[in-house]
Amino acid sequence: MAARLLVVFLVTATAASEHSSHVVVSVGTEAYGAAPYSYYPQSVYYPQHSYAHQPVYPHHPQPAYAHHEPAVPACAANTTKPWCLEDSEYPLYEIQHALQYNAHHVLDLYADVADLNTALSVERPKTLDEETYLCPSATAYVRPLRAINTEGKWRVIVNNVEVHYQTLTQTARVEECLTAGDACPLVPECYGSTCLQKSIYHRFLVYDPYDYYLPFSIETFALPSSCACLLSAYTLDH
Ligand SMILES: *[C@@H]1O[C@H](CO)[C@@H](O)[C@H](O)[C@H]1NC(C)=O
Repeated sequence: MAARLLVVFLVTATAASEHSSHVVVSVGTEAYGAAPYSYYPQSVYYPQHSYAHQPVYPHHPQPAYAHHEPAVPACAANTTKPWCLEDSEYPLYEIQHALQYNAHHVLDLYADVADLNTALSVERPKTLDEETYLCPSATAYVRPLRAINTEGKWRVIVNNVEVHYQTLTQTARVEECLTAGDACPLVPECYGSTCLQKSIYHRFLVYDPYDYYLPFSIETFALPSSCACLLSAYTLDH
């Protein structure tokens, strides 16, 4: 608990000293311990067969660059989060190779999601006085290389890939509770409060090595978006 209070203090102190417009703590992928992630669905919502659709165009020979991807990528071992920001096995060459044949279609898909990058779209209070944050959180702008989609599958996300002298990037703002599940620090104990991780859905252009006809598509991912303080029903009776 002492460590957490220290974190709260540091967050406040950092924000105050920078005269910044909002509280932003840049965190690396492993900056703090594994909070349990409750914000992505544990269950698979769709039948398996909707995913396994490889032989749609059996007359196209499978190109040599498609290789078997494990269900859980190696980079997952290096992070506690359902996404990877670093990946020594990122199939950059395969993506670039596949892009040569699909550039125009992929650029169309990319244009559809590029505007949705959340890097610049979040309004935050101008000063700390405008809003009291009840639960400590860390905010970062991330460019995931892989992530778990809303069907619970790891996907390769097209990021930092060059095509036609353009670099395709996909950025998402993530805000994570530092003490999810704990009581809100500033709320008296008798109120029965809990810090609750909330998430929103993002659409990303992904690379699917198994779809050899068009190995690019847009899929949906739930990422942490804010940290709320939830008061128990008992409190609301008062
Ligand atoms: C995981 O981290 C180790 C140590 O930093 C690194 O050597 C390895 O390449 C990483 N694995 C992946 C898949 O990125």
